[in-house]
Amino acid sequence: MYLSYYDLKDKPFNVTSDPGFLFMSKRHKEALAHLSFGIQDRKGFIEITGEIGTGKTTLCRALLNSLDATTKSAFILNPNLSEIQLLQAIVEDFGLTPKNRTKLGLQKQLNNFLIEQLKQDNNVVLILDEAQNLSSTILEHVRMLSNLETEKSKLFQIILVGQPELRTKLNSSNLKQLKQRIGIRYHIFPLHKDEIVNYIYHRLSVAGPNHTARFTQHAIDKIYQYSEGTPRLINMLCDKVLLLGFVQEKKTISEEVVDQGIRELEGTFE
Ligand SMILES: Nc1ncnc2c1ncn2[C@@H]1O[C@H](COP(=O)(O)OP(=O)(O)OP(=O)(O)O)[C@@H](O)[C@H]1O
Ligand SMILES: [Mg+2]
Repeated sequence: MYLSYYDLKDKPFNVTSDPGFLFMSKRHKEALAHLSFGIQDRKGFIEITGEIGTGKTTLCRALLNSLDATTKSAFILNPNLSEIQLLQAIVEDFGLTPKNRTKLGLQKQLNNFLIEQLKQDNNVVLILDEAQNLSSTILEHVRMLSNLETEKSKLFQIILVGQPELRTKLNSSNLKQLKQRIGIRYHIFPLHKDEIVNYIYHRLSVAGPNHTARFTQHAIDKIYQYSEGTPRLINMLCDKVLLLGFVQEKKTISEEVVDQGIRELEGTFE
């Protein structure tokens, strides 16, 4: 709607987890480095946590894009599945066709796949997003999956990604064994105040290298105040204020426009 007004090719502030828009904040850079290192160094389990909307799923997608052919990956976005459904989803996401849909059959197929990859000296990564929703029973099954290939169990790198409740869950006494297996942990904090302006202009430039949208420093400060650095909230607010700017024919977004955007998002009309 407002795209041509600001010379944008795409919507700059979608709330989808498109890695093409990834802004390498200090935290996101560190998180990605931890992930890459964990995979290369075969650290077993890796835990990535972060508050809602801080970019965990986007980061996973960016990681998957960065892997070369020697790393085989499966990405399970919504692991709210039964044990057998999860196993089947994993097998399928590795590009295999389940031969036998029993638990034993699927485990065997996964095991054979792991052994085959080991022979070729490939790395194998499983990413379970939204892992805070996994029950303790399923998490325990996941731990046992990593035992499938016994002698070199760390062939299989499993990345658990989730909101902070994941960490609480992993601290419970019935998951002690899994907790001990976690070789790398990283928590993604929201963007730092000083990063907000670059984040916003980065997304705008990806959406339109010659875009004409501008924000005053006061507008940026307001966006920080509202979002506290959470990217999803920044996106929702920026989408709103660009629309308001277009309607009011203001290419430069002021603090007042941001205030209005916040009121609309919060549903507090005057
Ligand atoms: N570093 C970043 N660079 C660019 N965009 C980002 C970044 N981090 C987050 N975003 C954007 O913020 C929004 C929310 O990100 P994402 O869905 O990855 O968060 P999440 O942590 O997985 O959220 P949830 O806790 O709900 O699963 C998306 O639109 C995403 O593109
Ligand atoms: Mg997510």
